[in-house]
Amino acid sequence: MVPYKPKILLPLIMVITALTVTADYVRPPPRKTLHFPWDPKPSSQPQQVHISLAGDKHIRVSWITTDSSSPSLVEYGTSPGKYSFKGHGDTTSYNYLFYSSGTIHHTIIGPLEHNTIYYYRCGGQGPELSFKTPPSEFPVTFAVAGDLGQTGWTKSTLDHIDLCEYDVHLLPGDLSYADYIQSRWDTFGELVQPLASAKPWMVTQGNHEKENIPFFKDGFEAYNSRWKMPYEESGSTSNLYYSFEVAGSHIIMLGSYTDYDENSDQYSWLKADLLTVDRKRTPWLLALFHVPWYNSNYAHQGEGDKMMEAMEPLLHAAGVDIVFAGHVHAYERSTRVYNGKSHPCGAVHVTIGDGGNKEGLAHKYKDPSPEWSVFREASFGHGELKIVNSTHAFWSWHRNDDDEPVRSDEIWITSLLSSGCDKKEAREILLSP
Ligand SMILES: [Fe+2]
Repeated sequence: MVPYKPKILLPLIMVITALTVTADYVRPPPRKTLHFPWDPKPSSQPQQVHISLAGDKHIRVSWITTDSSSPSLVEYGTSPGKYSFKGHGDTTSYNYLFYSSGTIHHTIIGPLEHNTIYYYRCGGQGPELSFKTPPSEFPVTFAVAGDLGQTGWTKSTLDHIDLCEYDVHLLPGDLSYADYIQSRWDTFGELVQPLASAKPWMVTQGNHEKENIPFFKDGFEAYNSRWKMPYEESGSTSNLYYSFEVAGSHIIMLGSYTDYDENSDQYSWLKADLLTVDRKRTPWLLALFHVPWYNSNYAHQGEGDKMMEAMEPLLHAAGVDIVFAGHVHAYERSTRVYNGKSHPCGAVHVTIGDGGNKEGLAHKYKDPSPEWSVFREASFGHGELKIVNSTHAFWSWHRNDDDEPVRSDEIWITSLLSSGCDKKEAREILLSP
């Protein structure tokens, strides 16, 4: 007699599927903080070069010199060694206890052609570097990794990202883990220069950027001085929150560690910024901030609740497609969610605070998993978001322990606009005074 196979096969398939998603993966331990011999360079030689987007067709080049008289000059062009264009910027510096920073240069250059390699050098000398500008239209690819730090795992994450083809790096907070020791900002700058001088790095702040000392030092002094973002270009009065546009995407960078309640400047700015979004021009709307709102890990459980209560209605009303957060040192992806539950017109929330910092991974998850949590795993890695066109994007998460092309989690995401999620009624909240 032939046995009734489906009854046996179905549970077997379910078990195999479950095993492939979560089990049996032996997580590696944290790796040590990298120790760089602090390599003294000639005092006017540019160090810690990184670039960021600074409004349409413009890029901000940032670097540091020991020599305060070194010019804030960027020479650039589309052929190696031929610098047809120049940009001049300005400088800043800061003191922190017994530490004095070098001279920090910020120079905006442009207008630049889209999707073009530029060769450049900073300060009228030093090695030639190059970067590629993002495209003007889809497809566009973002590398995403937060909570980087500067350990052996950080290096592994950066090496993996370096192997992928992407246009812009998005970093949802916690960069250097300097934690008051300012020279660590310098070593972090050196560690990331190979990548951050070649593609724009768009960052927002985490708790490790605060470095405030009560009654003595305000927060974010090093972060704001070194990692200037296009806040002025996006109508914000603070480097701690801003927005920018790439190809057909509008990206909002919010601050988990600055006021966000209804009476705050950040809240007012966010409302105003969301109202400027033209979904015909930028059909994709993304948001990044540090502390996740949807987190089923015991680490930092509930820390994002107040910000979520204040700001989730705004993001939902505007139809934000995807939210990236960090803080929890693990990876988690939600289904579309709103107000704490699955919602067909909510945003997909991704926690990607697993860039490789010294604190190690957050292993303990709530059990059972919330209904909105689709995939969660405590491993170091990075993500890639390829927005293919106005309706479809492909998201993948890549573990450091695997070769770069291996996708440990992947999903096609359709834009809310193309999913019949017209939120005319919800938009009233944006228009309210
Ligand atoms: Fe954090």
